[in-house]
Amino acid sequence: MQTIWKFLTPRQIIFGSGSSNDIGPFINETDAKKYLIVTGKVVRSAGLLISLEKTLSDNNKSFVIYDGIESEPVVENVRAGLKVFNENYCEEIIALGGGSPLDTAKLISIMVTNDGTITDYRGVDKIPNKGVRVIALPTTAGTGSEVTRYAAVIDKKTSEKMLLTSPYLIADTAIVDPVLTVTCPGLLSAATGIDALTHAIEAYVSAKANPASDIFAIKAIELISASLRDVFSDGKDLGARENVMLGSMYAGIAFSNASVALVHGMSRLIGGFFGIGHGLSNAALLGNVMEFSYLGNILRYKEIAKALGKKIDGHMADEQAAKLSVEAVRELISDLKIPSLKEMGVDKKKLSGVAAGMAEAAIASGSPGNNPKAATKEEIMEIYFKSYE
Ligand SMILES: [Fe+2]
Repeated sequence: MQTIWKFLTPRQIIFGSGSSNDIGPFINETDAKKYLIVTGKVVRSAGLLISLEKTLSDNNKSFVIYDGIESEPVVENVRAGLKVFNENYCEEIIALGGGSPLDTAKLISIMVTNDGTITDYRGVDKIPNKGVRVIALPTTAGTGSEVTRYAAVIDKKTSEKMLLTSPYLIADTAIVDPVLTVTCPGLLSAATGIDALTHAIEAYVSAKANPASDIFAIKAIELISASLRDVFSDGKDLGARENVMLGSMYAGIAFSNASVALVHGMSRLIGGFFGIGHGLSNAALLGNVMEFSYLGNILRYKEIAKALGKKIDGHMADEQAAKLSVEAVRELISDLKIPSLKEMGVDKKKLSGVAAGMAEAAIASGSPGNNPKAATKEEIMEIYFKSYE
């Protein structure tokens, strides 16, 4: 008998090159007059805000901008953005940027309608009230924040990266325009693309996968793996950008519903202890975690190998076919010239000293519990060491 499952997405998704040029019809769905735009300084200096500002003016809407977010959002950013929202009598929020501005915007939205501080709402389904409307426009193809029910924020007092999960953290409207990613540099595009690929692979093998998340996950693997090399070699290749952006959004929908697994459980700690970007941390781990995990669900990894473009001979044993998925991601990551942890300056002595604590924290995060093969603390430490080179 089929188990009961649930599937959540934004109320509406608008996808396509040029879709961000005129968002007037979506703005005018409510009679709000004043908007808070949450964005990043890089996005602003790249000129990506110009069209949005014009659209708002043309539709007689006023706005204020909050762009004070650090590379990863901290509790103080949410507080500061909320202050700007309240002091200017804003009514709704438009988020334009990568995962950090999008997460921050979603968190400001729920703090408009809920008391206390953001730290009160960490964890799963702890937010009592829906926030104000958020229209999300991603400028990178990776986090999928425009379609997920997650937002992460760092508490500087404890150095903890808190994850909040709630249907109220899903943006009301996601406007996904691949043109907005064209100015994203090569290595960042590669790293965010691998993050999205990791979302898709982990969602597909997750213990929480469901029939609908599977459809999005497997299609995301196909789209991203087919076009990420082209995006890396020519950032202006709009066809490739479209495929990777669509793949990233599908991957976001998949992992928002099916969660992630061992790679994400482990990579958050590399970010926390060594300051390595999220996509780069995932890239360092992905092949090794898959090599560890594939025997836990041979048929799923075989499907992943096919989606990654590997030819599966009809006579090939399932186990052998599944292992080709590991080979395929290693080839992709190597072609994208993503540096190793060693090349990124991770100190091996420090890693040896903190690996046990990292492994414990990874297990405690809960994500490894979704992995098709359970990993002990010692096995996780071994994967960290293996991923160093
Ligand atoms: Fe991720």
